[in-house]
Amino acid sequence: MKIAHFSRWGFLMAAAGSAVGLGNIWKFPYITGEYGGGAFVLVYLLTVAVVGFSVMIAEMLIGYLGRRDGVGAFEELAPRHKERWKYAGFMGLSGTLVMFYYSVVIGWIFYYITLSFGTLPASIPEAEGIYNTLMTQGLGTQIFFHTLAFIIITAVLVRGIKGGIEKFNLILMPALMMIIAGMLIYAMNLESFTKALSYMFVPDWSKLTSEAFAVAVGHAFFTLSLGMGAIMIYSASLAKDSNIVRASLFVIATDTLIALAAGLVLFTFLFQYGAEPAKGPGLVFISLPSVFHAMGLVGNVLAVLFFVALAFAGLTSSVSLVEPMVQYLIDRWNMSRVKAAVSMGVFFYVFGIVAILSLYSGTAEYFTWGGKSFFDWSDYMTSNVFLPLAGLVMAIFVGHVIEKERVAAVLQEHMGWFYPIWRFSVRYIAPVALFFVMLNLIGVIEF
Ligand code: PHE
Repeated sequence: MKIAHFSRWGFLMAAAGSAVGLGNIWKFPYITGEYGGGAFVLVYLLTVAVVGFSVMIAEMLIGYLGRRDGVGAFEELAPRHKERWKYAGFMGLSGTLVMFYYSVVIGWIFYYITLSFGTLPASIPEAEGIYNTLMTQGLGTQIFFHTLAFIIITAVLVRGIKGGIEKFNLILMPALMMIIAGMLIYAMNLESFTKALSYMFVPDWSKLTSEAFAVAVGHAFFTLSLGMGAIMIYSASLAKDSNIVRASLFVIATDTLIALAAGLVLFTFLFQYGAEPAKGPGLVFISLPSVFHAMGLVGNVLAVLFFVALAFAGLTSSVSLVEPMVQYLIDRWNMSRVKAAVSMGVFFYVFGIVAILSLYSGTAEYFTWGGKSFFDWSDYMTSNVFLPLAGLVMAIFVGHVIEKERVAAVLQEHMGWFYPIWRFSVRYIAPVALFFVMLNLIGVIEF
């Protein structure tokens, strides 16, 4: 593999760009609403700190030491049974499957940016009407905006690590951070801010069902981009002598701060205008637009900024979801970057259309199995099966398979007294936590 190195700041922005995504601004607030606020947020924060942090370092380490595409990295680093460990690497390629629905949602966001320039829906039922019409009848609109997402993402991937991914993140990420920070300051000055604070941070343990618990843990991994090979492939382009402990901390802190800020902004707005926090996936597409309408002209400005920030978050994560496969095709199938990027683009584009058809009233029944649409299956399988499984395998690989000395050589000097704690977490806590959460998420066990 020809390695193009990220600049230091370029890597941090790209990795944070991967982590900060639809998970932070779209999913996190609505699942927090669905599962009742404070207690859910606390479990999520705790998972990020205890398990997320150790697995993030583990995934970065595989990329950094392996310096190859995901599959090659496992082969390179396994001291024995290389041909078997190679299959672990394949699991880290499942990010492209996330794109089947992710790109469609980015399409919705584009559509909402255009709506934000005009008259926003005046009431929740009206907003619901727009959202439902888009899902069930807006075939052309959805395909149009999904196509736009596909073009942007593929164009960035075609340009590669330096000229594409790094540049893209260096522009979009600071812009996104500024928008969210600005909105947070605005929200802080509203009366309902304290209500949003207590909703998000005062735990009501009675609301913490076992499902809520598993979803919070699962989300912590999803939002940090773990288990999909994204962090791993970016780390393969890290300059030698990088401090991956510090980089992990930066990515985790950025991701968490943006999720919390987005949540606070949203809940402040919702409470201020008496809208429901528990609206499910439609939260930012239904409740929020009607709140923006109630704010008048300021609302339009805020709406445009909000959806632009959401689009930026989604796009920077998208490139990291597809890049592992692109790099795999380049390394293993000797494809040119252009050919690899375009093939993978077309791949997720076509399945994205299937996802759209699985929501469309005329075709939904052909693409729905076991009560779940193809769109939902793509989310369900990736978040609940592939991600925890790959995270589990990565933790075991770093904790039990790679030679101890190789791991220590990279990490010990940066970690000091924390090193044995990290090692214990990667060897035992993370695999056990991931295993049980996965079983719970797919409904095999309850706890
Ligand atoms: N972390 C991204 C989000 O929060 C999603 C993602 C998962 C991106 C895995 C890359 C890899 O939306």
